[in-house]
Amino acid sequence: MQNSSQANKAVIITGANSGLGYYCAEAIARSAQGWHIIIASRNLLRVEEAVCKMTAETEYPYIEGMALDLASLASVRQFAQNFVAGERPPLQAIVCNAGIQVVSDTLYTEDGFEMTFGVNHLGHFLLINLLLPQLSARARIVFVSSDTHNPDADTGMPYPQYQNAELLAFPTDNDDADIGNTGRRRYTTSKLCNILCAYELSRRLQKQQLTTTVNALTPGLMLDTKLARDYSQAELSALSKAIPPSILEKAVDSKTSGSALARLILDPSLENVTGKYFDGLEEIQSSDESYDEKKATELWESSVRLVKLSPGEATLLR
Ligand SMILES: NC(=O)c1ccc[n+]([C@@H]2O[C@H](COP(=O)([O-])OP(=O)(O)OC[C@H]3O[C@@H](n4cnc5c(N)ncnc54)[C@H](OP(=O)(O)O)[C@@H]3O)[C@@H](O)[C@H]2O)c1
Repeated sequence: MQNSSQANKAVIITGANSGLGYYCAEAIARSAQGWHIIIASRNLLRVEEAVCKMTAETEYPYIEGMALDLASLASVRQFAQNFVAGERPPLQAIVCNAGIQVVSDTLYTEDGFEMTFGVNHLGHFLLINLLLPQLSARARIVFVSSDTHNPDADTGMPYPQYQNAELLAFPTDNDDADIGNTGRRRYTTSKLCNILCAYELSRRLQKQQLTTTVNALTPGLMLDTKLARDYSQAELSALSKAIPPSILEKAVDSKTSGSALARLILDPSLENVTGKYFDGLEEIQSSDESYDEKKATELWESSVRLVKLSPGEATLLR
């Protein structure tokens, strides 16, 4: 671990070795607010490269890399144990940023969950629940979602389809000849899950009169990240034709969106803001479905079972 004697609070950012997460971490480093920044991602080599690059570019010394594979419940548990065992400043923020879009096949996590739901939702769900006892007063949690969760946003992506969590973890549509479309729908549904989960977590924390805030953000369309790495050239050009010009015109770079994401952690005026959804810097309404408390409760309780949280770990009751 790097010297953290002058940093007085820690932030964990998942998937911060590239794209949006990288620039979020960089903006926090440049804020000079005394953060110990943890870049948590699946490939330790890429993580260490990102730590070196960011340290050199920002000259900020308190940046640490840690291995975290959200596609493995064991890895998430190991990460939480390593975090607890280390001597770091108190945990003040978690940014659930890592995300994937799988369009070439149906893949499964180490624990047998469909990969998109497993990484984008279940891995983060377990991470947050294991780290809740570590959070300081007035801590902040942010989930990175996407406007593709919202049918009204008209993004050119398939609408989410949420029936229940079990069906997302163990889908029955694996033989779909149109795997590209199925994969994109799994993605938009996982992004709906990020908001359902953020709102539900916020409600449960408030019920227990805990001061941690939870918000969600859509960074907007960013064409300069690696999110579309699983697309073939032909699929990419089909996708770009499906995206309405109004959305393409509003595309932002990941550095700008990274600052907007970091602001949800840094801005003192947001200290008591919880259960909200931001489009970049602006607070907006998310989709109607994302406010469905029945679905959010079902997602939460099924996720507790799927990730096998013990009664002692599942501390946030309804
Ligand atoms: N790009 C867009 O237009 C857009 C729009 C709306 C929302 N978003 C959201 O923004 C977030 C960041 O995506 P991005 O666009 O910056 O894409 P990106 O460049 O692909 O970054 C994703 C990050 O997640 C990490 N990751 C993937 N699988 C992981 C796993 N199993 N465990 C831990 N980390 C894992 C990746 O690590 P590796 O480098 O090792 O693969 C990478 O660091 C995602 O939640 C995405 O849904 C993106």
